[in-house]
Amino acid sequence: MTTIHYSSIDMYDYRTRFAIFAIVALVTTGCDTMVAIPAGPSNVTVSLADDVQPILTARCSGCHIEGGLANLSGSNLFLDEGNVIATGVNQSSTQVSVLTLIVPGDADASYLFEKVSESNPTSGSRMPTFGASLTSEELGLLRDWINQGANDN
Ligand code: HEC
Repeated sequence: MTTIHYSSIDMYDYRTRFAIFAIVALVTTGCDTMVAIPAGPSNVTVSLADDVQPILTARCSGCHIEGGLANLSGSNLFLDEGNVIATGVNQSSTQVSVLTLIVPGDADASYLFEKVSESNPTSGSRMPTFGASLTSEELGLLRDWINQGANDN
């Protein structure tokens, strides 16, 4: 009797844990698709200097700079002023070498965009690692700049 009693508790625990896992998985996956990024591409040209670099400087370059935390972790992606084109556009990720950091014209194929827009990217953490995620407006600007060709404009 005792054995049956314990085994039914184990089964309940297993089901409960599975249910919690399923709910967490659904919620996390749901969040990715529900990020409210403004519609685009707009007919307004997004500028690297005026729109995108200020975001990278404020939210990324503290670590993505020569000798910064990301660089010390092995990444050669530098996001301080004047470096994103050379170190990001058409460059392989050091983390997942088959992925390209920025694919001009294709934000969805760009690992950099995945790292800022998905809560559970292919490798490592969502960026920025500390502090708030980028806002939907910032994500929209980054996406549109990449989709418009990731130009040095
Ligand atoms: C607090 C430090 C920090 C900040 C701020 C930060 N990163 Fe990172 N980043 C890291 C570290 C550390 C890694 C490697 C570990 C990881 O991915 O979790 C990394 C990895 C990356 C990678 C993968 C690089 C590669 O070569 O494969 C990308 C892309 C990236 N970050 C983009 C960004 C962007 C875009 C921002 C700003 C929105 C940002 N990061 C802000 C520390 C940071």
